[in-house]
Amino acid sequence: MSNVHGIDVLRDPKRNKSTAFNEEEKQALGLVGLVPDVTENEDLQLRRVNLQLAQKPTDLERYIYLINLLDHNETLFYRTVMSDPARFLPIVYDPTIGEACLKFGHIYRQARGMYLSITRRGKVKEVLKNWPEKDVRFICVTDAGRILGLGDLGANGMGIPIGKLQLYTACAGVPPQYLLPMYLDAGTNNEQYLHDPLYLGMRKTRPATDELYSFVDEFVQAVQEVFPKCCIHFEDWTGVDAVHLLQRYRDKYCVYNDDVQGTAGIVLAGMINAAKIKGKKLSDERYLFLGAGSAGIGLADLLCSAMTQEGLSRKEAQSHVYMFDINGLLEDTRKDLVDFQKPYAHKHSPTRDFVAAIESIKPTTIIGVSTVGGTFTQKVIEAISRINDRPVILALSNPTEHAECTPEQAYTWSKGKAIYAAGVQFPPVHYDGQTFLPGQANNFYIFPAIGMAVFATVSSRVTDEMFIEAARAVADLVPADLLKQGLLYPLQSNILETEIQTAARVAKLIFDSGLARVARPADMVAFIRDHVYKPEYKIQSARSTAA
Ligand code: NAI
Repeated sequence: MSNVHGIDVLRDPKRNKSTAFNEEEKQALGLVGLVPDVTENEDLQLRRVNLQLAQKPTDLERYIYLINLLDHNETLFYRTVMSDPARFLPIVYDPTIGEACLKFGHIYRQARGMYLSITRRGKVKEVLKNWPEKDVRFICVTDAGRILGLGDLGANGMGIPIGKLQLYTACAGVPPQYLLPMYLDAGTNNEQYLHDPLYLGMRKTRPATDELYSFVDEFVQAVQEVFPKCCIHFEDWTGVDAVHLLQRYRDKYCVYNDDVQGTAGIVLAGMINAAKIKGKKLSDERYLFLGAGSAGIGLADLLCSAMTQEGLSRKEAQSHVYMFDINGLLEDTRKDLVDFQKPYAHKHSPTRDFVAAIESIKPTTIIGVSTVGGTFTQKVIEAISRINDRPVILALSNPTEHAECTPEQAYTWSKGKAIYAAGVQFPPVHYDGQTFLPGQANNFYIFPAIGMAVFATVSSRVTDEMFIEAARAVADLVPADLLKQGLLYPLQSNILETEIQTAARVAKLIFDSGLARVARPADMVAFIRDHVYKPEYKIQSARSTAA
């Protein structure tokens, strides 16, 4: 219980209602005269926010305004973002967040989350205890080794865990008090920031891997002791660290990596729907990847797990997946492959010609995770369209200029036959009297729903099966009429409902797997709904704890 009174109520973003206190609250909290003598509701306040946002010339300015709003009035911030997710998510997260991170030390206004530097080794537990909330359920943690496609951003990467956790609330209704953004500062190799006087991190280059991992070990162990119900979400580490740290902790603690598992989950959802449009199963398809890096391998592995659920052995599932990288087709004579690529190197003659590989392998689906824009050329699209009535073309590299092909190219070169999705949002395409809706494989359909399910069930682990179930649920939530127009993902305007339904399916799996730490409810959807945060003010008295 708190005795916060008078001006301190207005300074507490969890209690501040700005112009929405009623007369009794003003009297009880000592606010008479400190706020205008009106009592507005959230909707009227939202009108004012929208009016002020309309004056801002750029999305970065709108981002700064919204973060400032969050610093002053948490309820109104979430009211705003949840009022129109399709409009606000690109401002509070990707793509605006990339620019916000690049300028983080310059646009910084107020502390948010925790900064834990490697110099605190031996004292990590004590540092975690400084966080004011005692029941933390999610820590989103980065060392900013690889922020989006922007590389090593050091402390500037803190924008990512802050933004990512906002999506747990904005998309799936996980209450914000349980979320803790965290930057593990092990230095940066970014010369520009090392010499920027306004840079907010340690001015040291990164340590050797062993040293970094022993710091992360202490952090993960300390979290178990200080926040025993907490799930650790790893985000934007370099590809190698992402895979190794996930392997290191996944069977012992409640952890996951969204870049590896969440990304694979959302692309899998698109593949499930593409197969559905054709009246097929995943295991009826043959997949050829352009790119065999961390995104490609993570996806191929989850796809194979999903095919084993359809009855194939792991080996049989792997035989449906081919990969092609900068050195050509992965095949069994290649000497430059790393361990996790070898399962996809089948018996085949060497080739560096992607069109020739399509003609020989005859894939039903091509997946671009190559980082190189324009690599799905007209010849590529024409080749796969010759083999398939409905070729599936997933051009996932981002940002926009890196997409392997645009939807316009896919629909035009395939003569309207392609089923297409991208890693970024493209507008609808009109071709030959038809309107096509290119989908966006955006992780925010998956990880907030997994988060909500883990939160509600207090799950002790996060498993790959949970990502496959989330993918199946998201795929099932695309209405039949939109699926017909080629839309592989649900509409963003209805995201909260999509995530509630997805979380309910994942929660059921958590109970079935014996990982839940609460009693099983009778109605899973109602159970999830009961946990959803609502951006509405509560009546406050002199002794209430929060708005
Ligand atoms: P990475 O750097 O680990 O792997 C890139 C792969 O592409 C390597 O195997 C490389 O050999 C291959 N490659 C590069 N140039 C090529 C060329 N000209 N022809 C054929 N292969 C080529 O990168 P990572 O992390 O796997 O990401 C790949 C792309 O996927 C990125 O652009 C990223 O933005 C995108 N991505 C999209 C997601 C989404 O839509 N939700 C999620 C994750 C990644």
